Formats: sequence, structure tokens, C-alpha cells
Amino acid sequence: MALIGVIGGSGLYEMQGLDNVREHRVETPFGAPSDAIVTGELQGVPVAFLARHGRGHRLIPSEVPYRANIHALRQLGVRYILSLSAVGSLREEVRPLDMLIPDQFIDMTRRRESSFFGDGAVAHVSMADPVCARVADCLARGFGIAQGEATQGDQPIALHRGGSYVCIEGPQFSTRAESHWFRAMGASVIGMTNMPEAKLAREAQIAYGTLAMATDYDCWHPREAAVTAETAIANLQQNAARAQRIAAEAIRLLGEEQPQSDAHTALASALVTPLEAMS
Ligand code: ADE
Repeated sequence: MALIGVIGGSGLYEMQGLDNVREHRVETPFGAPSDAIVTGELQGVPVAFLARHGRGHRLIPSEVPYRANIHALRQLGVRYILSLSAVGSLREEVRPLDMLIPDQFIDMTRRRESSFFGDGAVAHVSMADPVCARVADCLARGFGIAQGEATQGDQPIALHRGGSYVCIEGPQFSTRAESHWFRAMGASVIGMTNMPEAKLAREAQIAYGTLAMATDYDCWHPREAAVTAETAIANLQQNAARAQRIAAEAIRLLGEEQPQSDAHTALASALVTPLEAMS
């Protein structure tokens, strides 16, 4: 069984430092996940790693089988998910290469299956606070520890706590009008994958937190070039090793503390159809 699931986004296709590595081809009622799930131990903490786009990056954000991914992690016993995700920055102060731990999401996706419920089973989970504060806290402390260990050659980067991540359908980047609109909405960063992932994690009673890595200024900035996949990937690659170190520290902390999260009891107040009627 794995306690912590790590979902690696673009540029993060494996988890380093795992002992006792095993690959699992998990089947779910929603088909196969994005790839085999790799389990192992990181400093004694059981972890399950999944490459969101598949190893080798084969899936566009709309093709990611979000339900299968969360179902499979749940089957492996996961209670906490760390989502490692590339984002564009919608705020001047969030500079490319900086990191941000969002506390809110805005879902602008249009064609994704976003619930395990339906077909006679009804539940409405609360998404008021979609990010588990305890998971976010472990990520922030992990950042602090990793920053403390940074070597001289490492460029100093900032961590921003809180802010809204707006999730677009993609795979195209936004128009300038959309980018300005998302800023006017108050969003801090923009990405293509954390919704419906965070919603499904909540329905699966898994505590969810995101480490968002800024790669670009999207296309709203008056003096910066509009984002291209090439620049986003180049910046992400610069930060991949750091993201791994932060995740490793957060995993150690979560493993030690195993905090209780509201997400763990999300269905207690959400079910309309009684559980017995669903089996
Ligand atoms: N991922 C990285 N940069 C992005 C951007 N500008 N828009 C959407 N997703 C992104």
C-alpha cells in the first residue's frame, strides 16, 4: 500500500530516490491510468508515482484519464496527493522559475469527466477549500528545507503561498484577452491539468496539494514575450531537480505526521444516495 501519491506533470516523469521500486498496471472501472504506477519507499514512506501525461508525454491535458488516475491511486491506498505542475504566472511578482502553492482553483475546463458520481449514485462534496492546508504546509516546509540545501550554483527562487490556479482546457495557450480576463478574476497562475484532478481527489477522500512551478508570464505581460511550449519546457527542466527535492521533503513530513484532513471525511456530509444503495 502507498500512503502518498505523487502526480508528476510535464517534465516530471519519474520520482528519484525510491527504494524497492515496483511497477503496477492498475485497472479501474474508468479504464487504465495515464501509465504504470511506480511504487516504492522514500526514506521509509510508501509512495506511488504517476506521470500525468504518461512517460514520454503522450497525452494532452484533455486526454489525461483523470478518473482512472485517482481511482488507481486510491486502490493503492493513497491518502495524500502531491501534484507537481507547470503553470504560467498571471502576477508580476510570481516570476518564471518561482513556485506557488495555490489554495484555490477556478475550473474553466469544458470537456472532462469530473465526477465519480452519476448513474444513480448522487453526492455533492464541498470544494470550498479544495487544497488540504496540511498538505500545503508540508510542501511549504519542504520548499524551505530544499532551499536551505541549495548550492551556490542554484538560482534563488521565491515561494508564494496561496492564490488561485485557473485551469483551462488547452492544449492551446490562452488568448491575450483571456489572459487579462483571468487576471481580472484574481487568478495567480494558469495551468491545464489540476481540474478535475482536485475535484476527483476530494470525492475519493484524498487530501490534495499542488506545487505549481511558474515557467512563463502567459501572454498578458506588456514587456515579456508570449509563452511558447519551448520556453515553458526549458524553464521547467531547470526546476525539475528542485521540485523533486521539495516533494521528497514534503513526503518525509507527511509520512511522519500523517495529518487528519477534512478531505478524508469528504463524503460524510456529501452523500445523497446512501452508500449501501450504491453497491
Ligand atoms: N503551463 C505552463 N505555462 C502555461 C500557460 N501559460 N498556460 C497554461 N498552462 C501552462
